[in-house]
Amino acid sequence: MTELVFPDGFIWGTATAAHQVEGDNSNSDWWEFENRPNSPCHEPSDSAIEHYKRYTRDIALLAKLGFNTYRFSVEWARIEPSEGTFDAAQLDHYRRVVEAVRKAKLTPMVTLNHFTLPLWVAKQGGWLASTTPALFERFTRKVVEALGDNVGWYCTLNEPGMVALGGYMGDFIFPPATTGLANWKQAIGTLTVAHKRSRAVIKEMRPDAMVGQTHAMHEWEANRGGVPVMKYLRRMNEDIFLEASADDDFVGVQTYTRMSIDLPFVVGTVFGAALAVPALEVRLAARARLRQKSGPTKQDLDPRGVRRTQNGWEFRPQAVAAAVRRAASLLPGKPIVVTEHGVAAADDAERVEFITEGLAALHAAIADGVPLRGYTHWSAFDNFEWGQGYRMKFGLIGVDRTTQERTVKPSARLLGEIARSNKLVIPGPDGSAR
Ligand code: BGC
Repeated sequence: MTELVFPDGFIWGTATAAHQVEGDNSNSDWWEFENRPNSPCHEPSDSAIEHYKRYTRDIALLAKLGFNTYRFSVEWARIEPSEGTFDAAQLDHYRRVVEAVRKAKLTPMVTLNHFTLPLWVAKQGGWLASTTPALFERFTRKVVEALGDNVGWYCTLNEPGMVALGGYMGDFIFPPATTGLANWKQAIGTLTVAHKRSRAVIKEMRPDAMVGQTHAMHEWEANRGGVPVMKYLRRMNEDIFLEASADDDFVGVQTYTRMSIDLPFVVGTVFGAALAVPALEVRLAARARLRQKSGPTKQDLDPRGVRRTQNGWEFRPQAVAAAVRRAASLLPGKPIVVTEHGVAAADDAERVEFITEGLAALHAAIADGVPLRGYTHWSAFDNFEWGQGYRMKFGLIGVDRTTQERTVKPSARLLGEIARSNKLVIPGPDGSAR
């Protein structure tokens, strides 16, 4: 058997996002998107898993399992239901959530924006409008004022790269579902400004807080023909945002799979040359878009058989370590936290395998000097997986949505035990050590 011990003070947590668990987030753009007559979403979020009402017990359960951190998001659509009106009762709600987290002896890690926007912000153009960063800055100020000294970790934006690509380049199930390269680039710029303004406010009010944004990152691979496309997508989806994190206190890495781009050499060469010609860039970028709906690029571009998760992504737990190593090489010395890593799996044994393999690969990265400070697993509970609805099971804890009963899965016990002992025990070939 092998014992992999993690550094002292390692963050061990689970993560959720307001819209995916709270329920009845009816003032948000996502709610409107899910409930449209011709919505592309599988089902609406509805009452979700009623975390808004049940948070005290949910948080106590996480603490009992052995975790030391809980990452969750506050919902802008609830806090500022119309422009400039801040709802004191909602700010109080999140103050109580933070208090419950602390009372359970967990460290709160608060995400200020996890995909959803208030409907009124969306109607003004969302992340296309140059006015949105100022609105987000004002919202940040209100939240930090309300949560005060009780929160020491803030994630400004969750996966801005995914928001820009999914919502503005198109081809994902993601509001506002606009398409086109110009929109994509515009959203990238606006999100980057919003992050920086939000970070500046937090640092002004809480200089000692750890502030970062959380980045959707993949492990990437490409054949010779695929290299120009891979570099282009990696830059647009990851590197631009990592550059905007250069002055952050930490970088959040969120990795689920590997992207493989296999293209005939001639296609790659034409693509590389076309990047210099904007009109062609549009056409070729549109072709190279990642297709989340039917599984990632690999499915479209590489017909070889690969093991897949419940939602069609390559089962590749170690991808997280490749992403963390790349983040460390792009931002040397910057503390890194894996703020999401997880798998859609109907069979929890797959999640146990995913966690074990992923953590072993991360441990090796730490041994090689990567400054990894923590790991928060996606997700604490089975929840609303956006356009794919409740079918996808990402939770360590299962939820029966008719009774709202919570069921602790073996993966939750495993990860809780790893958190408690700060080590991963890998059994020998004869199964010893468990
Ligand atoms: C998001 C989560 C989502 C998860 C699985 C991440 O991109 O932050 O909200 O549920 O991936 O798709």
